[in-house]
Amino acid sequence: MSAPNFIDLYSDTRTQPTEDMKHFMMSAKVGDEQKDEDPTTRLLCDRVADLLGKEAAVFLPSGTMCNEIALAIHCRPGDEVLCDRSSHIINFEAGGPAALAGAMVRAIDGKRGIFSAADLAEAIRPESRTAPRTRLVSIEQTANLGGGAVWPLATIREVMAVARKSQLAGHLDGARLLNAVVASGVSARAYAEPFDSAWIDLTKGLGGPVGAVLTGSKDFIHEAWRLKQRWGGAMRQSGILAAAGVYALDHHVDRLADDHLNAQLLARGLARLPGISISPENVETNIVFFDIDVAGLSAPDFVVAMKERGVVLWASGTKTVRAVTHLHITSGHIEAAVAVVEDVLRKKESVQSPAN
Ligand SMILES: Cc1ncc(COP(=O)(O)O)c(C=O)c1O
Repeated sequence: MSAPNFIDLYSDTRTQPTEDMKHFMMSAKVGDEQKDEDPTTRLLCDRVADLLGKEAAVFLPSGTMCNEIALAIHCRPGDEVLCDRSSHIINFEAGGPAALAGAMVRAIDGKRGIFSAADLAEAIRPESRTAPRTRLVSIEQTANLGGGAVWPLATIREVMAVARKSQLAGHLDGARLLNAVVASGVSARAYAEPFDSAWIDLTKGLGGPVGAVLTGSKDFIHEAWRLKQRWGGAMRQSGILAAAGVYALDHHVDRLADDHLNAQLLARGLARLPGISISPENVETNIVFFDIDVAGLSAPDFVVAMKERGVVLWASGTKTVRAVTHLHITSGHIEAAVAVVEDVLRKKESVQSPAN
């Protein structure tokens, strides 16, 4: 846990509820959510179902549970899910697709988390007695490990047209869907329309403390409730938490544009520094990936040195570092963080150059 005086660029999950959000949460009307009687949770679900243009929605403790419940509904054991190699469901869900849905996952090698209709067509297995049945395609909007890249609506439509030809279902992991909406001007409804299931996270750019909302048809959400109950995700007075989501939808969506500007500022600041490899033109939303190109300095070592100077980042590989902008990051923080990077790189250089 980082101290409040850190410039925490580790993730947009590091946000704390604001004072106004906390006040709104405190005054939420609540009931028994497990019986679908919590008015604030119902309000949040109605709002998100409408936002994504789906019939129904369910409030869940996390985005991970949204993905896992959706996969378990769409797939029977032995079925195959197609998604990009960088996907959260492959890398960060503790083997959930195998353990919970009994599904196989086949990775597609997209570019920055985005694959084409042709890539998908290549990966769909022809009907056969011996092959697993390809059943579902899942995409991330935005693509997290793809550097917050935004799937163009046209690509989504082409991909889902190919999927439908082979009777595949479609799932949209919208952990950062609203970042894509703000960056592109395309509506959340348009992005979600081609998919059977879609969700948004409340705990990332939106700045809520807990939860995500999964949407789909009435039948789909009926099934989702069964798994939510089975897996222990049904809650009681969850309106306290859902209120944060309602508040965030009203107050924290348009401001995502600030996070995108700050990410650009960071990318451009880093691009000026020798020893940093980055393509600012790839920074479309709030996620910035860059490489450390200094002999003898690994990304994990760089991240430790940065933290010692008060800036928290994530080393996603031996050379690669991720920074994410969010609700608590200002342009002043970005300027300070770039100065710290410069300082860390300069110190490393002076240690390396022979004294004379
Ligand atoms: C693309 C993506 N999907 C799913 C998740 C999981 O969300 P949660 O942390 O709410 O479980 C994350 C979280 O980082 C994510 O980035």
